[in-house]
Amino acid sequence: MKVLVAGKGAREHALAWKISKSPLVEKVCCFPGNAGISEIAEIPSLPDDSVESLAAFALKEGVDLTVVGPEDYLSKGIVDHFESLGLKIFGANKDAAKLESSKAFAKEVMDSAGIPTAGYSTVTTVEAGTAVLQRSKFPIVLKADGLAAGKGVVICDSFETASTELKEMLGGKFKDAGAKVVIEEFLKGEELSLLLLTDGLNVIPLLFSQDHKALLAGDTGPNTGGMGAYAPVISGTPGLYSETDSSVTRPLLAELRKRGINYRGILYIGLMIVDGKPYVLEYNARFGDPETEPLMMMLESDIVPYFKACAEGSLKDLPELKWKNGYGATVVMASDGYPGTYPKGEVITGLDSVDSGIAVFHAGTKFDKDGRIVTDGGRVLMVTATGPTIKKTMDTIYSSIDRIKFKGAYYRPDIAHREIKRTVK
Ligand code: AMP
Ligand code: GLY
Repeated sequence: MKVLVAGKGAREHALAWKISKSPLVEKVCCFPGNAGISEIAEIPSLPDDSVESLAAFALKEGVDLTVVGPEDYLSKGIVDHFESLGLKIFGANKDAAKLESSKAFAKEVMDSAGIPTAGYSTVTTVEAGTAVLQRSKFPIVLKADGLAAGKGVVICDSFETASTELKEMLGGKFKDAGAKVVIEEFLKGEELSLLLLTDGLNVIPLLFSQDHKALLAGDTGPNTGGMGAYAPVISGTPGLYSETDSSVTRPLLAELRKRGINYRGILYIGLMIVDGKPYVLEYNARFGDPETEPLMMMLESDIVPYFKACAEGSLKDLPELKWKNGYGATVVMASDGYPGTYPKGEVITGLDSVDSGIAVFHAGTKFDKDGRIVTDGGRVLMVTATGPTIKKTMDTIYSSIDRIKFKGAYYRPDIAHREIKRTVK
């Protein structure tokens, strides 16, 4: 098989890495790709990164299966376009991806299906929003309805900060993405990520994982796209999984089917566990980043038949996924200034000096004109490993990470701190 991976981050690097190990696959291509991905996959030369250019390439090259990474391709309808041309593709179609691309839609679907989630109101005017804030308890959560590059969720401690934020969002801070604002009750608990493979009817779960969204140690500082992740999570018990399956996953897929939406691909459920019960914070229609990196390293099964079965609607024929024992984890190396502004083009050295068994997935890198690997994004590298315990896994990563160098490199020193506390006696 020839497989094309659409995207250019560490998530796509990890997916292409796992796909390239499949005995079913002769060739992996990736576009736009990055410096690291070019070591394991062919990066074709295409005129641009549009859906149409990718589809033209897939047709010409005889690609058997395309796997989509980022949400913007999904919300632009890459799956609908490929399928209209008879091309096989793994991912949610445009209507299904609305679960991620519109928070107001996601809340409305959850309401109809009776899925546990934070209480909310959706507003489109400052007057209506202010009236909601006047009768609210604080902290409260304001969410821009549309895709806002991970910046559209703001937790506000007081009426004053919430009113200012509300006016900015409705006033165009996130352009059209903020034309509707969801005002949501603040939930306190532990956050878990649950990624599921689905063909719209059947579901096969990946391990529960946990991301670390805050920039600084101790889960402080501004929110980021994620600074590190690990899997499995001890609090993600089989009991919690079956409760999530019956109270969230099944009602969601049934509600979508009722609306004529067949959800195929990966369904990412962002959960807050409050007093042992799962509440949905958000859905993503794609693999989580950085959760995917440790998940792909922990996975023993060949992932390619699962991607194919989701695309074809035949997931019921496949067994549960098999996983390594122990833990997988990843630590993000970021550019100085991220998640604000940061420099690009810093030379990266020491990539080959990490211990064997560590995979360094590239998030934002490229080759400069002299052929050196340089930084090309806020999140730059994801240093990933597996081990028999979470403590040993983190020791493996942290004892190698300083050998990789670029100017201003920053990483969190405490990824997986909760799990280490829970498991080290
Ligand atoms: P989202 O993109 O909706 O997942 O929001 C980003 C982050 O904001 C989440 O990962 C949570 O840490 C936080 N968050 C979102 N909604 C809530 C909520 N209702 N209560 C508490 N924290 C929240
Ligand atoms: N790790 C969070 C996300 O992918 O949205």
